[in-house]
Amino acid sequence: MNANLQKEYLAAAVNLAALPAHAVTAVTWSAPSNIALVKYWGKKPGQIPANPSLSFTLEASRTKVSVECSYLSRATGPTVEYYFEGGSNSRFGDRFGKYLNEVAPYMPFVRLLRLLIRSENTFPHSSGIASSASSFAALALCLVSLERELFGTLADDGDFFRKASFLARLGSGSACRSVYGGFALWGVTAGIDGSSDEAALAVTDRIHPHFLTWRDSVVIISAGQKAVSSSEGHRLMHRHPFRRSRLAQAGVNIGRAMDMLRGGEADGLVNLAEEEALTLHALMMTSRPGYLLMKPETLRVIEHIRAMRADTGLPVGFTLDAGANVHVLYPAAIEDRVRLFLEKELMVFTENGQIIHDRVGKGPEKTGV
Ligand code: PMV
Repeated sequence: MNANLQKEYLAAAVNLAALPAHAVTAVTWSAPSNIALVKYWGKKPGQIPANPSLSFTLEASRTKVSVECSYLSRATGPTVEYYFEGGSNSRFGDRFGKYLNEVAPYMPFVRLLRLLIRSENTFPHSSGIASSASSFAALALCLVSLERELFGTLADDGDFFRKASFLARLGSGSACRSVYGGFALWGVTAGIDGSSDEAALAVTDRIHPHFLTWRDSVVIISAGQKAVSSSEGHRLMHRHPFRRSRLAQAGVNIGRAMDMLRGGEADGLVNLAEEEALTLHALMMTSRPGYLLMKPETLRVIEHIRAMRADTGLPVGFTLDAGANVHVLYPAAIEDRVRLFLEKELMVFTENGQIIHDRVGKGPEKTGV
């Protein structure tokens, strides 16, 4: 695998500057969000992760992005018009516009395009589930589809998804893992050939089939905007007092996670996922300045999950994203039992009675030409 994708894509870009006559005009992809078991937290310039991370891609929580192109007479673009669920949304429209300018060196033909971008989420708007991973994965897939159709490049699916992952990373780091179904690893990792800081690697073929049945039920404790953004959280890791020990811990945990996933060790994996989630939030609390994204209900939910595990011995655990909501992780074999527990014991802690049931998913889909 190429150790320097950026160089390779910049070199290839000289052949992607002039638009051929037979231009495709529209494409649609639907891409899912993902949930990390080993967390990416902290980055270097150019969206290079401070540590490797590992996630599974969801199935139900998706963003559908469609792109329609028209052509500019000179390379003055890219020009972007954006609609979210039918309405204009300048905040995300501006972010997509800025993103397309960042992508332009790798795909200079976008400078000749006016892009009409529409996106919609399958999960409720105010569910507290971040849509940046699914949005940028879907948009990046639309862009590589355009390149493939217009220039006949990226004919090999491995090349196609690798470039999509590279481009998705530039929009939102964790988005690079969402271009693959099943499990994906992002960041150079000892013992994993093909692992890279520039794009994610699909690792499902190295994982015990048991884990492909795993469920993620998201207990929505707070649907509002986060008090401190992930970008700010990553920035605070630069001078974090525990930076070094976190990097060492993540390096060890990624290896442990891969071993447990390979060996089908559900109990070990649940403990590791919880350690990573609590570490992520501990890093937030001990940043300078420190901050808290957990709510009192988050702790109550965690206590109930741990009590349930202690009482039953079942492999039920949790992880947390950069927010207050709790992702409850468990295998399909105990789904009925866990659903009952969620309804009876955890529903009371939700905002608006929302628990979103998701699972390990098959990955993105091209849903339109
Ligand atoms: O991709 P970003 O910049 O939104 O960062 C996401 C970081 C976490 O979701 C907290 C962890 C992860 O690996 O997804």
